[in-house]
Order: sequence, then structure tokens, then C-alpha cells
Amino acid sequence: MSESRSPEETRGNINSMENIRESHVHHRKYRRVILFPLPLQGHINPMIHLANILYSKGFSITIIHTQFNAPNPSKSPHFTFHAIPDGLLEDEASTADGVILFSVLNSKCVEPFRDSLAKLLLDAMDQEPVACLITDAVWHFTHAVAEGFKISTIAMRTTSITSFLAFASFPLLRERGYFPIQDSRLEESVQELSPLKVKDLPVIKTRCPATLHQLFEKISNQARACSGLIWNSFEEIERDALSKLGQVFPVPIFHIGPFHKYFPASSSSLLTQDQSCISWLDTQTPNSVLYVSFGSIAAVNETEFLEIAWGLLHSNQPFLWVVRPGLVPGSEWSESLPDGFLEMVGKRGYIVKWAPQQEVLAHPATGGFWTHNGWNSTLESICEGVPMICQPFFGDQRVNARYVSDVWKIGTHLEYNKLERREIERAIKALMVETKGQEMRQRIVSLKEKVNLCLSHGGSSYHSLESLTNYIMSF
Ligand code: UDX
Repeated sequence: MSESRSPEETRGNINSMENIRESHVHHRKYRRVILFPLPLQGHINPMIHLANILYSKGFSITIIHTQFNAPNPSKSPHFTFHAIPDGLLEDEASTADGVILFSVLNSKCVEPFRDSLAKLLLDAMDQEPVACLITDAVWHFTHAVAEGFKISTIAMRTTSITSFLAFASFPLLRERGYFPIQDSRLEESVQELSPLKVKDLPVIKTRCPATLHQLFEKISNQARACSGLIWNSFEEIERDALSKLGQVFPVPIFHIGPFHKYFPASSSSLLTQDQSCISWLDTQTPNSVLYVSFGSIAAVNETEFLEIAWGLLHSNQPFLWVVRPGLVPGSEWSESLPDGFLEMVGKRGYIVKWAPQQEVLAHPATGGFWTHNGWNSTLESICEGVPMICQPFFGDQRVNARYVSDVWKIGTHLEYNKLERREIERAIKALMVETKGQEMRQRIVSLKEKVNLCLSHGGSSYHSLESLTNYIMSF
């Protein structure tokens, strides 16, 4: 396994940012922006990307972060980092029940965050003034704390706008009897959120369902109270959701995504990215490899893991599979693979613990992505024109998957409760070798071109970013 990015590469990326920053820095008059990411990989990546975007626009950057899943400051030496004690006990520092983790973090971090902000504001008195706080929207106490210091807060939501609207309609859906979700209603359409079905509602499995509803309510309330909302999304893909968002959340909205396309590949990975898979991809023919990864949190049981392994083997397609330590809870790594599996696969398959995902998706050999449809993975796949097999596990992933398969038609849906080898084999063949897959590839390649347009001069995200920088300067 090798380090994700050498110090030279990190320096190179920062140099290219410095060149762009040069032209902005004077008229920004050295204002500082404080950012507060939620300590999960899928939240840290977009927040660090956003920090780089704002840095290139001439702002100075301070990142307040928890000790749990702390980002590596040496990968972003142009930022100032401030760790706060999160007070998490050993058994609390786990993503096994995300709802409980979010709730504990939101209660334990209030005081340390307030102390840290007070100190930063004091220090800033003889340096650059602080323009605003940009908080992950899941931190729902931050606006109230910043308001106490007369600092404006903008919330950044890491999911799609569509799935956020689905979360925000939970109180209405609860009134209308959708919760608790009944197995007999899973295939029913949700009229209020067409084309979602009951099984696509973004619920997260937790031992405290009431906490989940309270959490969403607090996140929505804060989003309404903030000075603005930033989205890692773009108009061409979520036009309807954007106009609805403006009605439900009447605050300034900035859709400036996809963030990761502004600069070369991410350097905020918490795990070491195994670069050796790129050399393996170099040996494969164009569009032939299925990349398989379920992000940083999703877990499967041992039976499901074996079904995945057999499905990959029987599909006869080359594959690159990310088996994250902990993908099967309780197992170290790939020891649950069937006996003789690696010999049977031979050179046709490659397994890593963690991949340089953006580089993998951009590689000419990668022809399909079997994904859990986390929003970052979904966007990264769209940006590289790689069609998907959708296997959502929980929360927003279900909404993203439904849109990928039924609205944008750039992927095929593998039902999350049908992780079965023959179904897997069928889906892989449909995506990688059949006409249906070819059509999805054509559609996603044309969507990729729209991404490039929206980021280029005069495009919707370009324009929205200009508005955001001017807005921050107005505070
Ligand atoms: C979580 C939630 O699960 C997701 O639904 C939500 O939208 C964001 O927070 P996660 O499950 O980790 O995120 O998925 P995703 O949003 O796709 O983010 C994963 C990130 O890790 C991506 O940026 C991806 O490029 C990166 N990654 C993933 C790697 O660098 N290497 C890998 O091997 C796998």
C-alpha cells in the first residue's frame, strides 16, 4: 500500500491553487472563513474541497475539527487547523449507529466548539477579520453558537438537494402514516415525493427512531435560520429540486458543485489509498472493469459478502473490489472469502482495502461502478461518465439510487434486500456487456459534458460560486 499523494504532488496541487488565488487575493482584502466538517469521510471530502475553492478565491481558511476522524493537516498546509476535544467514549466513536453518533457529537461538541470559536475570534482581532462560519448542516447547534458572537453562518449539505427535501418532508410523511415503515408498503409510491417509493425513503437504521426524526427536524430548523445554504450539486441535474428548495427554505442558495472537479484528485482521505490498483487497471482493456465500492460506512454480513464474491466470479468480468476493513463487521479484511476464490479469479480481479476512487473512475479501463450511491460516489461517477449498478444501503443513498436508475437512467438498480449471486451476475452483465448498459453509458457521458459546461465560465455553478464569494465578502 502506498501513500495517497506524495508531498510533491500535494505541493503541486497547492501551487496551481496559489496561481489562481493570486488574482483574487487583493480585492478579497484578506478575510478568513472558518469551516466545521462533520467527522466522516463522505462529509470531510466535500468540506475540504470547498475550503480549497474558497482559498483559491482569496479567502484564508481555518478548519475546526474533532479529534475523532481528524483530517491530516500536512495534506493541506495552506490551512490553519484547530482540533476540539469531542469527548467521545471508545464505544461512542463508531459509525455502527450513525444516528446515535450524530446525536452524541451534537451534544458533546457545543462547549468545545464555542470555546474554540471564541479563541479564534479573539486571535483574528489582530489578523484578518472572520467573514463567516461554514458548518456541515448536520451540526445543528453551530448557528446558535456563532450568532452569539455575531458571526453569520452558512450551512453546507453534503447530500443531493432531492434527498434533503425528502428528509425535510418527514414531519408531513409522519402525519400521513408512512412511519414506522411497514414491509407490506415498501413497493408503494410516495405521492408527495414522486418518483420515490416507500422503500426509497431516506431512513437510517437505528436503535432510536425518535432520535432520527428529532435530528432531521433540528437540521431543517437550522437550515431555515442560516444566512445561506451551499450544495455540492448542479442545476442541470436538480433543477426541479432547486426551485422547490427555494420555496421550502427561503434563504440564499448556492449550488456550486461538483466540488471535486475544481482541482486535481482529493487529498483528504482518512485511509491510505492503495495506488497499486492503478497499475493493474493499466493492464486492462478500455471500459472492461467493474469498480466495486460501498463507501466508508456501509457494512454487509458474511452471507452477503459471499454472494458478492460469487456474483463477481460468475459474471466473468474484470473487477476492482474495495474490501474496506470492517466491511464485514468483526472481520479484519478479506478472510471471509471462499476457499480458492483468489486462485479462481486469477488476474481477472484485484482487491484493495481503499482505492484512489477518483483516479479509478477516471481511468479508461473502468467501465462500470457497483456503488452504494453515497452522494460523493454518485457525483464522482457522473463526472467521469461511468454508469452504475445501484446498491443503496441507507439514508440518502436510496434516493440517489432511485434517481440514477429511474430519472437520469444512468444505472441499474440492485435491490438492497436482494443481495444474491444470480441477481448480481445478471446486473453486472446487463451493465458491462448488454445494449442496456451501452445506452446508460451514452446518457452518462452526455451528463458528464453538462457538468463541464456548468463549471466553465458563465455556467450555472460558475455563476453561483461568484455569487457566493461576493455574498461572503458582504458580511
Ligand atoms: C456518507 C453517506 O453514507 C453518504 O450517503 C452521504 O451522501 C455522505 O456521507 P460514504 O458512505 O462514505 O458517505 O459515501 P460517499 O458519499 O460516496 O463518500 C465516500 C468518499 O470516499 C468519496 O469521496 C470517495 O471518492 C472516497 N473513497 C471511497 C475513496 O477515496 N476510496 C475508496 O476506496 C472508497
